[in-house]
Amino acid sequence: MLSNLPKETMDMSAAGGGLLDTVEVVDADVRRIAVERARSRGIALPTFAQLAGSAPMPQGILERLQSTDPDAADPLNLWRINWFNADDRRGRQDVPAHVVLPRSLTGVEAPIVVLLGSRFPMIGAHKVLPAYAGLVTYLVSGRFDPQRHRAIWPSTGNYCRGGLAVSRILGCDGVAVLPEGMSRERFDWLERWASDPSHIIRTVGTESNVKEIYDKCHELAQSDDNVILNQFSAFPNYMAHYSCTGAACERVFEDLRRRNGHSRLAAFVSATGSAGTIAAGDKLKQSHGTRIAAVEALECPTLLESGYGEHNIQGIGDKHVPLIHNVLNLDFVIGVSDRSTDRLNVLFNTREGRHLLAHRLGLKSEALSFLDDVGISGIANIIAAIKLAKYMRYGSDDVIMTIATDSAGLYASEMEATERDEFAGGFSEADVEHLMMSCLHESEADSLVETTARERRRIFNLGYYTWVEQQGIALSDFDARREQAFWRAAADAASAWDQLITEFNAEVGLN
Ligand SMILES: Cc1ncc(COP(=O)(O)O)c(C=O)c1O
Repeated sequence: MLSNLPKETMDMSAAGGGLLDTVEVVDADVRRIAVERARSRGIALPTFAQLAGSAPMPQGILERLQSTDPDAADPLNLWRINWFNADDRRGRQDVPAHVVLPRSLTGVEAPIVVLLGSRFPMIGAHKVLPAYAGLVTYLVSGRFDPQRHRAIWPSTGNYCRGGLAVSRILGCDGVAVLPEGMSRERFDWLERWASDPSHIIRTVGTESNVKEIYDKCHELAQSDDNVILNQFSAFPNYMAHYSCTGAACERVFEDLRRRNGHSRLAAFVSATGSAGTIAAGDKLKQSHGTRIAAVEALECPTLLESGYGEHNIQGIGDKHVPLIHNVLNLDFVIGVSDRSTDRLNVLFNTREGRHLLAHRLGLKSEALSFLDDVGISGIANIIAAIKLAKYMRYGSDDVIMTIATDSAGLYASEMEATERDEFAGGFSEADVEHLMMSCLHESEADSLVETTARERRRIFNLGYYTWVEQQGIALSDFDARREQAFWRAAADAASAWDQLITEFNAEVGLN
């Protein structure tokens, strides 16, 4: 039975290994090749503690970073794969880039705080963090031979861009596997960064066609030279967001609390694709009792009602429950319509729309310039946060934290299409009013579920069909995820990985 399974599945189920890769060097020869590669390319690897901001970065690296282009395939940019980049994406700041949304926009008392992923290097989105986490754990443990292996990055567009960026720094082949229907801007970027056009593999469909991506990966896995770095099932994705994104949210919250000592971190809202980012919620729940809300497209209500469908909130909602999603720790599921996000993308990002919106809110246009940093899934997160604030009757001390994974610039072509289709005659004040009422303040009835134990079990069980039946994960491994202790172990592995990274760097000898 096992021998018929795809290669990456067999790796995950390997005798007694469980789902978490053992934190040890599994092949010293392969690791030696990786060390030599790192030395020849001048690569020093940051630890997760350094990326989380809990351990200092070497002064020499900080100095050299000042003259490093944040969009170059430069090894120094590995040190920028964190939330502490300044607005110019070159310098560093103590408090991660974020915006507290104007109350006139949200219409709710609760402060809604959005962390901005656009400050991350090379791809302008925080998905380069899980890509780094996946590859670095393989590198330092001798699981990835940069001379021989090709890194395969299954994705809906941002993770594979991050993957290609870190592969290129390492000087190895990276292959992006993504649906053909993703935004033009993603493909433009990939065409600039892929070392060969054949390294961009377009699978059938759009956002929610992840099964088709898996099928392609199974095909690629037939060759021993291909290593599949599957963000939907690889626990370094969970671990990196738990430690780094969780710490970033805490740092922002501490800063807010300096201004309002009564603040509490009430909720973390995250639209889920691989469900890596939402791992930050687990960290915040542990230290602040924060409640966790997953967001998905109403047109593909998989978590809400085991449903399926097509939608355009790119990066999220993939007709399955990722293996790395700790759904038994989930408090809310919130559906948001892609009609709302597409239309708000136009209102927020056309000059006319933004001008009228600012007027309606009694703000200067510049006060809305942060909207440049909010892509479509970020808009979904904002709508969901507003719904949650209303449903929970949160007040001014109840901070809701959420994420803008990427920026509006990645969706200019999507915006132009919606503008052509729906706003060909331009905007009127009445349009703005209508969009505010119907899209930003979408009704929460029927689209927000506060999960009961039974609901959480239903969502957990739904994952069985993808992971056990379809992808061949051992049932005992699948079920191990019912215990919160399993997730603690997945998160706690960061310090052991840091040890291996530190040893690897010492052998490379550049620090
Ligand atoms: C634009 C965008 N938003 C949200 C997400 C979801 O993040 P995660 O995969 O961490 O759940 C992704 C993931 O690729 C994304 O690209």
